[in-house]
Amino acid sequence: MNAEAERLFFALWPPPEVRAELAHQVAGVVAEIKGKPVATDRLHVTLAFLGETQLAQRACVEQVAAGLRGDPFELVLDRIGYFPRPRVVWLGCQEPPQSLGELAAALNDGLGACGCRTDTRPFRVHITLMRKVRRKPALATITPVHWRVDSFVLVRSELRPDGAHYAILRRWDL
Ligand code: 2AM
Repeated sequence: MNAEAERLFFALWPPPEVRAELAHQVAGVVAEIKGKPVATDRLHVTLAFLGETQLAQRACVEQVAAGLRGDPFELVLDRIGYFPRPRVVWLGCQEPPQSLGELAAALNDGLGACGCRTDTRPFRVHITLMRKVRRKPALATITPVHWRVDSFVLVRSELRPDGAHYAILRRWDL
């Protein structure tokens, strides 16, 4: 990575009261599964992963974000799942709100104009709870966590020996 580049992504960032509720609800799930839990202060929903981004590109993606229009929406996190390839256990929604899919799609589309190569796979809302889970665990049910989402953020990720550290760079209201 050159000195000017940063590893960036757009995300939904839970406010403290939602994060506290998440911590409470996922503690039981995580205790039952062998793997590496994500620290509760790092839990988030990724909207678009940019990877290594140059400074000039960052200005472009911030412009794209500022130009998006969307309405606040309610996320009901009521489903635990497992992605076998990245080997992660996640928390998601049985019925993802349409506004969220539209926001992620608009963001990913706009980022193409900044020369970013974003994920072309359909957006699947999830909060990664555990990594390095080697096989599909028996997945518990969860008491739904309600989160009224009214903003999204641009985050810088720094990879360190103890895992990724995140810094919120900017926030945009919906
Ligand atoms: P994940 O939670 O499903 O692993 C920061 O790395 C965030 O960007 C993570 O939440 C991660 O999602 C997401 N992400 C999406 N695509 C990625 C990629 N190719 N490499 C690393 N992280 C990625």
